[in-house]
Amino acid sequence: MHWHYSRWVTHGFDTIALHAGQQPDPYTGAVVPPIHQVSTYKQDGVGGLRGGYEYSRSANPTRTALEECLQHIEAGARGLAFASGLAAEDTLLRAICKPGDHVVIPDDAYGGTYRLFAQVLAPWGVEFTPVPLSDVDTVRAALRPNTTVVWIETPTNPLLNIADIEALAELAHQNSALLVVDNTFASPYLQQPINLGADVVVHSTTKYLGGHSDVVGGALIVADVELGERLTYHQNAMGAVAGPFDSWLVLRGIKTLGVRMDRHAANALSIVEMLQRHAKVGKVYFPGLPDHPNHDVAKRQMRNFGGMISFTVDGGEAAAIQVVERTEVFTLAESLGGVESLIEHPGRMTHASAVGSPLEVPADLVRLSVGIETAKDLVADLEQALG
Ligand SMILES: Cc1ncc(COP(=O)(O)O)c(C=O)c1O
Repeated sequence: MHWHYSRWVTHGFDTIALHAGQQPDPYTGAVVPPIHQVSTYKQDGVGGLRGGYEYSRSANPTRTALEECLQHIEAGARGLAFASGLAAEDTLLRAICKPGDHVVIPDDAYGGTYRLFAQVLAPWGVEFTPVPLSDVDTVRAALRPNTTVVWIETPTNPLLNIADIEALAELAHQNSALLVVDNTFASPYLQQPINLGADVVVHSTTKYLGGHSDVVGGALIVADVELGERLTYHQNAMGAVAGPFDSWLVLRGIKTLGVRMDRHAANALSIVEMLQRHAKVGKVYFPGLPDHPNHDVAKRQMRNFGGMISFTVDGGEAAAIQVVERTEVFTLAESLGGVESLIEHPGRMTHASAVGSPLEVPADLVRLSVGIETAKDLVADLEQALG
């Protein structure tokens, strides 16, 4: 069922995204994998499974197509698709951690990831320490003999900090820990953590992979076949799988990931240029800026700097809220990575669950998910909103 990895290693990213796992249907020649909206499969005699399919929690052909594609676009040994990013994270953590283990997490992790550690895993006995991941020495100092996972996001949400994947993989492995990379913000088009030494890649496919704000999903891609087998077991045992239609939507999104990311990135550069010279804008957070503290690392490990920008507004929280409520092309909404531009106030929206924690974000911060609209319209919209 799974195509051998070597089938795709020599191809470019966009060729892999369009074809891996998506061979034309053998019966009809349909060039797009069908949506197999089915729960169970006829057996040709007891145990006589056709193509290994038995029950759609265990495996479904549309999900298989997506999982093979995910595996290849992240250069991994196995891809798995889940009902949401957090379902993927939960399945992973319950497969690789046990009570008494310790995990290092970013001190500006996605709020939902922090909540999973703080409210769900900690009561079951998994300890965690939030640290600034851009500082490798601080991460080294946080490691304990029982640290089994170093969990990183890069760029981070919403402060766009950058972690050096190669250096942290080395550090984690010296401690016999796994390096897990949440690659949601970059997407595999911009950065392939497994090629830099990571053991597991996590995605909220809700974001750039889906790309059209029409599906919630998650993914895990692993470097090691044996870990892939264990996670496949847990995926079935825990059951938080992606449904056939959601799998199909994510697969369709992945086909245009490369062209979308190029436009997201080009539009982001035009906006950053305007924000930097705007009198009412304070600090601009964007890894493409030469004065970003880890610009060099971002340049080394990313193809370009992506479509996410955060900035502070003079006048504090009230002024920031006024800006997010005034835009007309940017839509005021949570989430990110879709073709349409979104704007939000992390302190009161996506990161409200981090208020009062070490992960609290600045109150005057605005976050942009830059879409693929015409650049000048996006720039003009922000200019009018800033006043
Ligand atoms: C970086 C990151 N990781 C994980 C998640 C969780 O994914 P989902 O919302 O699909 O459960 C999100 C969602 O915003 C995210 O931004």
